[in-house]
Amino acid sequence: MSGEFRVGSELNEESEGAKILHPKSGYELYFLYEKKLEHPDFKLHFKIPLDSSTAEPENRKMLVTERDYSAYPLKLRKLFADIWRRGEIVQYVEVGPGLGGFIDYASDYAFDVGAPKPIAIDLVNYSLLGEMLECARNLDLKYLSKNSALGVRVNERFDTLVDRCRIILDSERVCFYNMDIREAVNNVEGLVGCADVVIDNFGPCLYTGTEKNVMKLEKKLSAPWGVFFVNDGKG
Ligand SMILES: C[S@@+](CC[C@H](N)C(=O)[O-])C[C@H]1O[C@@H](n2cnc3c(N)ncnc32)[C@H](O)[C@@H]1O
Repeated sequence: MSGEFRVGSELNEESEGAKILHPKSGYELYFLYEKKLEHPDFKLHFKIPLDSSTAEPENRKMLVTERDYSAYPLKLRKLFADIWRRGEIVQYVEVGPGLGGFIDYASDYAFDVGAPKPIAIDLVNYSLLGEMLECARNLDLKYLSKNSALGVRVNERFDTLVDRCRIILDSERVCFYNMDIREAVNNVEGLVGCADVVIDNFGPCLYTGTEKNVMKLEKKLSAPWGVFFVNDGKG
């Protein structure tokens, strides 16, 4: 256990839910139930302090999102599906995977075709994210006990996300560098030029004002023939 969590409730007109804080690290997990929607739904989001060498001072909090693989850009999914179908041996690197679903697929692909394990570079503490998700899952929230279908979906989501934390931390499945992109590029032997495909999907490029510098660093990961794929939502 990484120390104490503080649990509070979040209530407003549109939503109610829980807020789980880990004061020592400044990590926050918001778990919100949307009351007004016709079909009740929920949202989970993590905010973490950003003390990165690549961050601008005014941009010190960021979200760790949990986008499913199906919500990654179509262009990337098509490239990935073609490579897998042809059984090509490709080294993937995802910078800033957060709780996104790409790495799970890339790890299955690597196992399937005998490619090297995907490389993930992220500064977030996945053990702590996992513990906070478990903590949220164990809260006895009234509205969930009233709505069992939603309760089931919520629990399934927690399980998926806890699994994603486990997969990233499983050295049999993923080669994970738990550090800032700058540190990884400058200090990890063998990373520069290692990748056939480099992906930054709403990762460091989104969170820094020195976007060009981050992009330059990420490009260094790519082999001369490599594909560099960045999506910062700006098209
Ligand atoms: C918004 S999430 C994106 C998650 C996922 N790729 C997706 O598409 O949902 C941003 C992730 O980038 C990571 N990140 C941001 N800046 C970083 C940096 N300078 N070095 C390493 N990771 C960074 C964060 O820790 C976070 O997990």
